[in-house]
Amino acid sequence: MNSGSKHTASVVKQVIEARKTSKVLLPIELRTEQQALWKPEHLECVTEMLQCAAMAPFHKRADEVHCQDSLNAPMPWRFHVLDPQACNNLLEYLESRALAETQTQVEAKWSRAWQSKIKNMVAASGVLIQVTWLPDSPHEFNLKNIEHVAAAGAAVQNLLIAAQSHDWLSYWSSGGILRDEEVFDFLGINRREQLLGSVFLSPQSHPSARVIDGGLRDERGELDGWVRWVST
Ligand SMILES: Cc1cc2nc3c(=O)[nH]c(=O)nc-3n(C[C@H](O)[C@H](O)[C@H](O)COP(=O)(O)O)c2cc1C
Repeated sequence: MNSGSKHTASVVKQVIEARKTSKVLLPIELRTEQQALWKPEHLECVTEMLQCAAMAPFHKRADEVHCQDSLNAPMPWRFHVLDPQACNNLLEYLESRALAETQTQVEAKWSRAWQSKIKNMVAASGVLIQVTWLPDSPHEFNLKNIEHVAAAGAAVQNLLIAAQSHDWLSYWSSGGILRDEEVFDFLGINRREQLLGSVFLSPQSHPSARVIDGGLRDERGELDGWVRWVST
């Protein structure tokens, strides 16, 4: 290995090791201050990160049912990016659904969601990316769908590593209420798509934000807990 590739290997290792889950929570009253930290060049960074995500491996083309509109790439994933203004609109939407529910007392899912941490995460975010994978029909646990999910997961990991290389905070969340079909409708996401995760990215956290690590961060242990060198 020459010194150039040794350097590249050590930088890549450093970035991979530095990547960590940072759940950033901010009171929504401070959303405007958080937004003031956002600069137009941050969107250029996001675009670069998305280009890294695109380079993930994928085995099979997405089913053509998912390729009918302008989002017609063959990769079995879609990334729906909410910029800071779209995040504000999402906050307004979630609050209005919760308020409407309190008035009618129909069901509690929106109120519960509004009381959860999701609003504080959206308030703290730079961008929120709704990452979906594109199921093949029949939508069952078959090899093709497993590989679609795996490929979409690889795309998310590329995104997270790219975000880390810019020193951004990142958090891959299951999404909670953001999985809801009505939230999909509000965001213009086709209901045929399946949420793989809601990814929160931020170039920096507000001084009043609380940052929480991933729960399993320190549980990996040594390689011999999950690697077996095969000798036959
Ligand atoms: C598919 C997926 C979904 C996740 N969803 C959540 C989530 O909903 N809530 C959460 O606290 N962490 C979630 N995480 C992040 C993990 O908690 C985190 O990756 C783990 O604790 C290891 O920490 P690290 O990312 O800092 O290494 C998710 C991670 C993955 C891969």
